[in-house]
Amino acid sequence: MAEIGKPVDRVDGRLKVTGAAKYSAEYNQPGMVYVVPVGATVANGAITGIDAGAAQSSPGVIAVLTHENAPRLKVPNFDELRKFIAIPHESTIPLQDNRVHYFGQFVAAVVAETYEQARHAARLVKITYAAEKPAIDLKTELPKGTRPAKIVQQHDAQLNAGRAAAPIAAAPIKIEHIYTTPNEVHNALESHSGIVVWDAPDKMTVYEGTQGTVNTSVIISYFFDLPRENVRVICRYLGGGFGSKGSILHYLITAMAARVVKRPAKMYLTRQMMQLNVGRRGETIQTIALGAASDGKLQVIRHHTDTYANPVSQFFESCGLATEVLYGAPLREITYRVAKLNVGAPRYMRAPGEMPGSFALESAMDELAFRLKLDPLELRVRNHTAIDPLKKIPYSGEHLLECYRTGAEKFGWARRKSEPRQVRSGNYLVGMGMATATYPGYRSKASVRVQMTADGAVKVMCATQDLGTGTYTICAQTAADALGLPMEKIRVEIGDSNLPPGNNSVGSQTTASILPAILETCEKLRRDLLQLAIADPQSKINGRRAEEIEFSEAKFFVRGDSSKSDSYASILRRNSKTVIEACQTTLPVSGSGLTIPGAPCEPAQVSAEENSDNKKYSFHSFGAQFAEVWVDEDLGIVRVRRFTSVMDVGRIMNEKTARSQTVGGIVWGIGAALMEETHYDLRYANPVQRTLADYHVPVNLDVPEIDVYFINKPDPHVSRIGARGAGEIPIVGVSAAIANAVFNATGKRLRDLPLTPDKLL
Ligand code: MOS
Repeated sequence: MAEIGKPVDRVDGRLKVTGAAKYSAEYNQPGMVYVVPVGATVANGAITGIDAGAAQSSPGVIAVLTHENAPRLKVPNFDELRKFIAIPHESTIPLQDNRVHYFGQFVAAVVAETYEQARHAARLVKITYAAEKPAIDLKTELPKGTRPAKIVQQHDAQLNAGRAAAPIAAAPIKIEHIYTTPNEVHNALESHSGIVVWDAPDKMTVYEGTQGTVNTSVIISYFFDLPRENVRVICRYLGGGFGSKGSILHYLITAMAARVVKRPAKMYLTRQMMQLNVGRRGETIQTIALGAASDGKLQVIRHHTDTYANPVSQFFESCGLATEVLYGAPLREITYRVAKLNVGAPRYMRAPGEMPGSFALESAMDELAFRLKLDPLELRVRNHTAIDPLKKIPYSGEHLLECYRTGAEKFGWARRKSEPRQVRSGNYLVGMGMATATYPGYRSKASVRVQMTADGAVKVMCATQDLGTGTYTICAQTAADALGLPMEKIRVEIGDSNLPPGNNSVGSQTTASILPAILETCEKLRRDLLQLAIADPQSKINGRRAEEIEFSEAKFFVRGDSSKSDSYASILRRNSKTVIEACQTTLPVSGSGLTIPGAPCEPAQVSAEENSDNKKYSFHSFGAQFAEVWVDEDLGIVRVRRFTSVMDVGRIMNEKTARSQTVGGIVWGIGAALMEETHYDLRYANPVQRTLADYHVPVNLDVPEIDVYFINKPDPHVSRIGARGAGEIPIVGVSAAIANAVFNATGKRLRDLPLTPDKLL
């Protein structure tokens, strides 16, 4: 494989830095109108009156949509829709009734000739409410909370409930602590935005920044009761998804507006709206109890999570996910209690569950190690398991011990002092900490079409999308290798729901899902092309057996005799073909099993070993995170001075883009550890942090050199490619590694994120 693995520059890099890459809101249409939503100013209650008069007569205003006049959307059947990722946790369908469930909920929308006119008029819409007291304080609401049967990832949400207490009480060594994590907001660089064009009364084109073009077309067609293929969703580039770009409410309003005014309509959310309407990571209060033998071997783990959904949503932060798969404790009890708060729905945010859950679990492991006077890394090694402890099947390709070893060596873990407060540098206390990372290795069904034209150019087509992480590039690398072509001959066309359906870019599964489909499809095309040559008396490889033929540089040749060759171009020319095409579907053998409607391509013929199933293997990625922090004792400021990350995510397709993904996850992890949080005003349930001025994220000075290493061993079971996903795992464990380092530096155990100076002083 010539291209796979190389640190190839992004094929779309130049387009992006020159501004030539068109994002969804940039597909301006003739006659286009602008839609600006109006947010509720109460968090709970009912709309009692709407005075849209001033807005209506404001310059440029064409329509004001409210629940009184907006088109009726199909009443959702969530059981039917649950298989599509964006729905189950976002069930306030906009402008359909007068109920208000959270502050900022879209309760009206102004449609105007210009954005400025719409934005101005949106302030003139007068809405009166019968307001009720919002439920906003998690601690107060929890006693009324429920104990759900399932988490959104469809795992048991009350695993072994009640069974851990006695074994923990009986364990020689036990610890129990409460860890808390705050509300966090995604804040993708590109705001949620898009344009809806009704091409006919029953047909539309939607340009929308989305993590699933097919998913979005399913949702829009569902609510507008149209055939799925009549809603074409295009997303060529995305400026960050992180789980948030599965939000649906805003584009349903855009589509309604475009229908009402019979013109193309554009909406983009402001940064302030993004703090309210497009998801968050919900606050969690987690209890971890560990029972261990005196050698540190875990006997029992209990992990209980208290968190919330909103009154009309179901998603909640599934903090026990990492606890399901890490460490060989024979018994683990993992439970949840979920309150209802009048807050916009919590939803997927990069490693939902694993990220805050690993803060609790991996902090607790550090506490246990300290109690045992055992090196925290050694404690993890002693408890390592190569068998999924719940499913009782082996991991598909697991190298966690190697992550620990490599990380310890590269980071210099041996220099760590086991007692806190031993290392100083000037005014700083210096400490080291580490944590384990894990994330599932999802893979879903994907269909790909590949065309080769007479000039030797190849087009690779799939509906899936590039979140900005390098999907275009690794698709081109895969096709180049599979066809023996240089990268510049490959054009990747993705981000269009009309193309063969691909996976949703959620759950870190795009690489694992689409590349096997590209490989199989390119090989099918190559086989078909080879058969043409073998059957052709004019070919120098005529009559040869396929097994003796190799390929490179756009031609076939006989193994050991490259003079007997035939180029792709001449094969096509002699057969009077302007184009040759293949289309194949690979199945969700090890994946999340999300259903993707419609698969126009034939199933790829792959052997059982190439497609082993998730009953035989548990598909997970692993990693080790190491942090060095310097803590200013007088000011309580924590600085991350070094960070080392070792990731075991299967084969690395592109060293450069994989590294960027990892660095990005760690930067966000630093933000979560040290600064990110949203508080809600307990009177009105509106967020106090409303912009990036007060929702703090790391800047360059907050981020040290980040050393990233990959184990880079192909997972032999996930696919022939051997790559699992690398998107979410890098954020997992970062906040625990940092908190553990802060303890090592200062002797202060902080169990409440973020680790702000007030908590250290
Ligand atoms: Mo990811 S949080 O599943 O988009």
